[in-house]
Amino acid sequence: MPIITEIEDLKRLYKRRVPKMFYDYAETGSWTEQTFRENSSDFDEIRLRQRVAVDMAGRSTATRMVGQDCKMPVALAPVGLCGMQSADGEIKAARAAEKFGVPFTLSTMSICSIEDVASHTSKPFWFQVYTLKDDDFMKRLFARAKDAKCSALVITVDLQVLGQRHKDLKNGLSAPPKLTPSSILNLATKVPWGLEMLQTRRRFFGNIVGHAKGVTDPSSLSSWTAEAFDPSLDWNRIREFRSWWDGPVILKGILDAEDARRALDVGADAIVVSNHGGRQLDGALSSIRMLPKIMDAVGDKIEVHLDSGIRSGQDVLKALALGARGTMIGRAFVYGLGAMGEAGVTRALEVIHKELDVTMALCGERSVAGLGRHNLLLPADFADRWS
Ligand SMILES: Cc1cc2nc3c(=O)[nH]c(=O)nc-3n(C[C@H](O)[C@H](O)[C@H](O)COP(=O)(O)O)c2cc1C
Repeated sequence: MPIITEIEDLKRLYKRRVPKMFYDYAETGSWTEQTFRENSSDFDEIRLRQRVAVDMAGRSTATRMVGQDCKMPVALAPVGLCGMQSADGEIKAARAAEKFGVPFTLSTMSICSIEDVASHTSKPFWFQVYTLKDDDFMKRLFARAKDAKCSALVITVDLQVLGQRHKDLKNGLSAPPKLTPSSILNLATKVPWGLEMLQTRRRFFGNIVGHAKGVTDPSSLSSWTAEAFDPSLDWNRIREFRSWWDGPVILKGILDAEDARRALDVGADAIVVSNHGGRQLDGALSSIRMLPKIMDAVGDKIEVHLDSGIRSGQDVLKALALGARGTMIGRAFVYGLGAMGEAGVTRALEVIHKELDVTMALCGERSVAGLGRHNLLLPADFADRWS
């Protein structure tokens, strides 16, 4: 096994193993990718305060997120098409998360279905829904998630309209994919990936094909996806979705203090401060830069989580020290999944856990609950540079 000491190592292996169209699908932001880049580079603006001679024996990264005990405050974010990064990818990622002791979130746009993931895992996972028009389909999706014993519903509210990602259009990544001559050539070079794919029957959107009206086979998917998203989404509709689920609801994709207050109003139990990993509104500020204002607005009333740009345990620590209760990682686990399947997701979690644990200790903290603004050194205008 190659020596993997940081998430970047997994990314290098991932790039070698997976077809370019799927690597590009993950490793891209919308338009100029400014927000995608700043999601990570803004973490670098935050520095840590070193403390010494604090007893570090018996320290712990354990916490609770949305009522669930976790080994560390990191959940796997919902990521569409994981089953194309590695055969049966969602099952592999869910198993790795379960064994490690962190929540896994299954995307609506997964390759493995809810039922499939539930039958290959033994602990409840979280299920993510997009805000689609078709009430019948949505209600059945909620019921399927309930039957599969999903422990929380994540409603993604920042994809009412799709942000443009140039690489996906150029690579012909659509549902189903329209293969270009260069993507066919590239696919031919990814032999281990291809052999693995040939051995699975799970190659299409498992939550949709055979479940959405008129989508009986993969060829009818593209017209369905073009129609399915609801541009008229408003807070009343989100309130309605909330009322269909009697367990915890997490609203994902909040990037503004005013929207955080609205999320509270509609009865969310938690929010994820997120810009969809820079894949939606290019030009939006990074999640970490928006976090302090959102904490000021709702931090004492609702669980606040954060994603977008996290590539290390140090990044996790910075988000926690600014007040987040938990975090989600997207690409950091996808790199692991594409590189080495389930073992790669486990490795990504181990890397982040070790970084978080050691950084916490070097900051003089024994538990994640003790982390706070006192651990950080921030530029004076970090949260107010743009107004
Ligand atoms: C390849 C890819 C697919 C994604 N698919 C979904 C999805 O189906 N549903 C969703 O709510 N978010 C989706 N996201 C956004 C992630 O849940 C998460 O917000 C984002 O990846 C966090 O940023 P990070 O990748 O920098 O950690 C996707 C992100 C990526 C990279």
